[in-house]
Amino acid sequence: MDSNSDHHERCEAWGLDSSRIPKHVAIIMDGNGRWAKERGESRVFGHINGIDSVRLSVESALELGVKHLTLYAFSTENWNRPKEEVDALMDLLVDTLVKEVSELSNKGVRLRTIGDTAALPDSCQAQLKKAAESTSHQNQLELILALSYSSKWEMVEAVKSIIASGRKAEDVTAEVIADHLTTKDVPDPELMIRTSGEHRISNFLLWQMAYTEFHFSSVLWPDFGKEEFIGAIRDYQNRERRFGGVLDTNHNVQTK
Ligand code: IPE
Ligand code: IPE
Ligand code: MG
Repeated sequence: MDSNSDHHERCEAWGLDSSRIPKHVAIIMDGNGRWAKERGESRVFGHINGIDSVRLSVESALELGVKHLTLYAFSTENWNRPKEEVDALMDLLVDTLVKEVSELSNKGVRLRTIGDTAALPDSCQAQLKKAAESTSHQNQLELILALSYSSKWEMVEAVKSIIASGRKAEDVTAEVIADHLTTKDVPDPELMIRTSGEHRISNFLLWQMAYTEFHFSSVLWPDFGKEEFIGAIRDYQNRERRFGGVLDTNHNVQTK
């Protein structure tokens, strides 16, 4: 990785403050179907073209020094889509992992998943396991794929495991709940991006995004490139985060 001053200069060239790059960015990658429809193609064509945007987002995150990038790739509710589309998405996932994992590893990317991955086809589970193992020592960027994920699924699992641990009701705190979520070792995202002009969360990281800044882009996912990613970070840097408090003259949240 480059030196601090290279990083600082690069951020400045993009109009960004290198000291305020979010550590964790989460993205709802939406609009593949509409992108394909505009071209008279099948929805799967849109998903295939969405892979380039994944690559560009990973590259942008690496260049900016983002440490965790969570991509919502397949929701619990997405299982309700036509079988051909679901099958194509699963195949695409396996093919992409096989093709890209060594490149990701070379760039310092560690791959992991959140979600009910036991519901995925065996071939996907095997490739995901392999990819996670072969990149486990990388530490530039953690790429978290949300697969067969939904926040309500995750919360139900958390409640079950808290009950199974035999904890008393009075010992359940916000920290205990956070510790039973699939993201337990990841800081909450400071920024969430959703593409395609939809303004909803669609069951994504509900607990973790209690104080996250949202950036909604009208661009469809296959058209979301480096400039759009950097634009979202710039938008984030213009926000005033208060966490329910008030700001002092230095724009820091005042404490008692
Ligand atoms: C996002 O694009 C990809 C997945 C949900 C897997 P969509 O497939 O939801 O595309 P639109 O929203 O129908 O355009
Ligand atoms: C959210 O997109 C899920 C993913 C991007 C994986 P959807 O397209 O499934 O969400 P809705 O149906 O528009 O809310
Ligand atoms: Mg959609």
